[in-house]
Amino acid sequence: MNQILPSPQVLKTSQRKFRVKKSDVHGKGVFALVDIPKGEVIIEYVGEMISAQEAEDRHPHDPSDPNHTFYFQVSDDKVLDALHGGNSSRWINHSCAPNCAPKVTKDRVFIKAKKNITAGDELNYDYGLVIDAPITKKLKLQYPCWCGSDQCRGTMLAHQEPSSKKKKQIEKLKMKLKKIKSEIKKLQER
Ligand SMILES: C[S@@+](CC[C@H](N)C(=O)[O-])C[C@H]1O[C@@H](n2cnc3c(N)ncnc32)[C@H](O)[C@@H]1O
Ligand SMILES: [Zn+2]
Repeated sequence: MNQILPSPQVLKTSQRKFRVKKSDVHGKGVFALVDIPKGEVIIEYVGEMISAQEAEDRHPHDPSDPNHTFYFQVSDDKVLDALHGGNSSRWINHSCAPNCAPKVTKDRVFIKAKKNITAGDELNYDYGLVIDAPITKKLKLQYPCWCGSDQCRGTMLAHQEPSSKKKKQIEKLKMKLKKIKSEIKKLQER
């Protein structure tokens, strides 16, 4: 006879690994109820699988809070919209120093512990949002991060390498700085 396993929804609180409650970072968050070892799969991020175009058409879910999203970008053209068919994973907040990380396998997304997590800790992962526009200060401020970690980037946008044009400008400025420093040294030695 097949063994019937309880669905996650009917597991007793004491058996559950996490719970959703108010977060100091933003709105609701997900908190560990037990210690969770590094590497453990905690939950699958589920929702309606839609195209990138459909995601753009649906955005924003709430016009009064345009940068709030329940989307998870799975690939260039696939987005999970957890507003429809989502589970508790949709309440996991972003952190710039996360204790979890999403792992994408064949269009399925699993949230795994990146570190050993202690009961009571809020679960989070780095959203690393990628926007198809130049990353300006203004854009960063549209996606502010309130994770409060020492490594906070101040934004939920992904860290992006400076463009080659910017890299050249940085190199030029470094050379100028080097020249100025050596001139100061020469003057001091006179
Ligand atoms: C999928 S929801 C996460 C649950 C959210 N706390 C809520 O109550 O709706 C994602 C949204 O939460 C907010 N959010 C998540 N992490 C954040 C953070 N570190 N700083 C600021 N806002 C955050 C952003 O508005 C983001 O679009
Ligand atoms: Zn942050």
